[in-house]
Amino acid sequence: MDQHKEESMANGARNPADEDLTRVVLASFGGSRSERFRQVLQSLVRHLHAFVRDVELTEEEWFRGIDFLTRTGHITDDKRQEFILLSDVLGVSMLVIEINNKKPAEATASTVFGPFFVEGSPRFANGDDLANGAPGEPCFMQGRVLSITGEPIPGARIEIWQADDQGFYDVQYKGLSQARGRGHLYSDNEGRYSFWSVRPEAYPIPDDGPVGELLAAANRSPMRPAHVHFLIGAPGYRTLTTHVFKGGDQYLDSDAVFGVKSSLITGFQRHEPGTAPDGKKMDVPFYTMSYDFILVPAEMKEGDNS
Ligand code: BEZ
Ligand code: FE
Repeated sequence: MDQHKEESMANGARNPADEDLTRVVLASFGGSRSERFRQVLQSLVRHLHAFVRDVELTEEEWFRGIDFLTRTGHITDDKRQEFILLSDVLGVSMLVIEINNKKPAEATASTVFGPFFVEGSPRFANGDDLANGAPGEPCFMQGRVLSITGEPIPGARIEIWQADDQGFYDVQYKGLSQARGRGHLYSDNEGRYSFWSVRPEAYPIPDDGPVGELLAAANRSPMRPAHVHFLIGAPGYRTLTTHVFKGGDQYLDSDAVFGVKSSLITGFQRHEPGTAPDGKKMDVPFYTMSYDFILVPAEMKEGDNS
């Protein structure tokens, strides 16, 4: 048999011409054990191939991409997750959050989790000071945890973590063993919560790795607008991962990870020394912030948005 004839009789996976390659690779996933796996992988292949064709990726660019991903893996460990950071700056994290957290308009919007949450934060009572020496101007934060019909949700566990006025989380300080600007407490019988901490400041996401290089190459800022993180869980309700952003922050429209929602922005009011809303006498200027969180019932289905 001449060589040409043998080639033309080759099975479908052999010698695919450029335009056939995508079809052959898609078919190779056709027998996947899980239907969902097949769907996800085939879609991924379709989009990857379309991307490579679209930009006519050069071999040098392909290699740079591989090198970038390799370095992203090498810098990742149990303290630093560069792949999630990459997903964040590509807007993929927010897209996944949007798709998986559809809820009624009155419910508090979800946003990115970020890398600075720590399990086992100290417990506080309402009115306590979480700052624990974190540098910054004192800030009293309060509000309620409510259902979408306006009922108070008592006993909701509220995890709080935030950057100080240097733009750092406690875990970013070498040798600091105590939590600062971090803790959890429970809403009271009327769904109310309150605590003291410091006014948060804007800060750059970790930009000393491959993701930082990517942002620099794109002339993009690594900054996130000032915010306080909240993780709120209550029996019978979907757990809410969100932030409250400081109104007026210069980075609200250029968040490096696309996490800002208008409904999550609130004012941090400045006050001269005097009596704070909880009756505390302040001999330095202080801030107040008020925000109500509205949780969605656990049984509410995706798409049941009315
Ligand atoms: C944060 O807000 O803590 C954060 C979120 C995404 C990437 C980096 C930091
Ligand atoms: Fe943050």
